[in-house]
Amino acid sequence: MYAISLGDDGAELRPLEVWHAEELLADIDRGREFIGRHIGLPDVVTDLESARAFLASYAEKRGADGGSLHGIWLDGKLVGGLLFRVWDTPSGVCEAGCWLEPSAAGRGLVTRGMRVLFDWAFEERGMHRVEWHVSSVNEPSIRVARRLGMTREGLLRENYPHRGVRTSTEIWSVLAPEWREARARGARGDH
Ligand SMILES: CC(C)(COP(=O)(O)OP(=O)(O)OC[C@H]1O[C@@H](n2cnc3c(N)ncnc32)[C@H](O)[C@@H]1OP(=O)(O)O)[C@@H](O)C(=O)NCCC(=O)NCCS
Repeated sequence: MYAISLGDDGAELRPLEVWHAEELLADIDRGREFIGRHIGLPDVVTDLESARAFLASYAEKRGADGGSLHGIWLDGKLVGGLLFRVWDTPSGVCEAGCWLEPSAAGRGLVTRGMRVLFDWAFEERGMHRVEWHVSSVNEPSIRVARRLGMTREGLLRENYPHRGVRTSTEIWSVLAPEWREARARGARGDH
C-alpha cells in the first residue's frame, strides 16, 4: 500500500481502511484513557466489530467525497490517526481531527501529518477553509492548532456532553491564502 513519509524517524501516513480493524482496536486499546479524555472515539471503538464499523463509515464518507481517514504508522505500528470528519467541496470547508496513542505523542507526528493533509486540501482539492474543533481544556490539541497557523475564532459554550460533563468547544481555522503565505514564509526561512 502506498505511504507518505513524515520524516526520517520512520513515521508514515497511509490510508486507514476497513482491513486495519485489528490494528485500530489495538491502537485505541493502548491509548483508551489518554485519547478518551477529550474525544469520544474510544467509546465508539470498543471491539473488533465497532472498529470495523467506524472504519466502514469513513470508507463510505470517502466514497461520497465527504471525509477521509488516515493512519500514522511509526516503525510499522499504527499509533494514531488524522481525519477530515467533515468535507464539503461545494462550500470549500472541511474539519480536521486527530488522535495519538500516548507513546507517540510529543514528536510532532500530528503536526507533520496535518501539514501534508492541509497541503492536499488547499492545493489539490481547492478547499478554502480548514476548521479545528477542540475542547477548551485540551491544551495539546490547541497547541497543534496554533502550530499549524490557525486562528481561534470563538467558543461554543458547553455544547459537547462528554462522559457526563458538558464541555465547551473552541473553533479554530486556517484559510487557503493564510496557509500559502505561511508556507512561503517557512520556505524562505529554510534558505
Ligand atoms: C491532540 C494530540 C494528538 C496532540 O499530540 P501531540 O503529540 O502534542 O501533537 P504533535 O504530534 O503535533 O506533537 C507536538 C509536540 O511534539 C513536539 N515536537 C517534537 N518534534 C516536533 C516536530 N518535528 N514538529 C512539531 N512538533 C514537534 C512539539 O514541541 C509538541 O510538544 P508541546 O506541545 O509540548 O510543545 C494528542 O494529545 C492526543 O491524541 N490527544 C487525545 C485525542 C485528542 O484530544 N485529539 C484532538 C481532538 S481536537
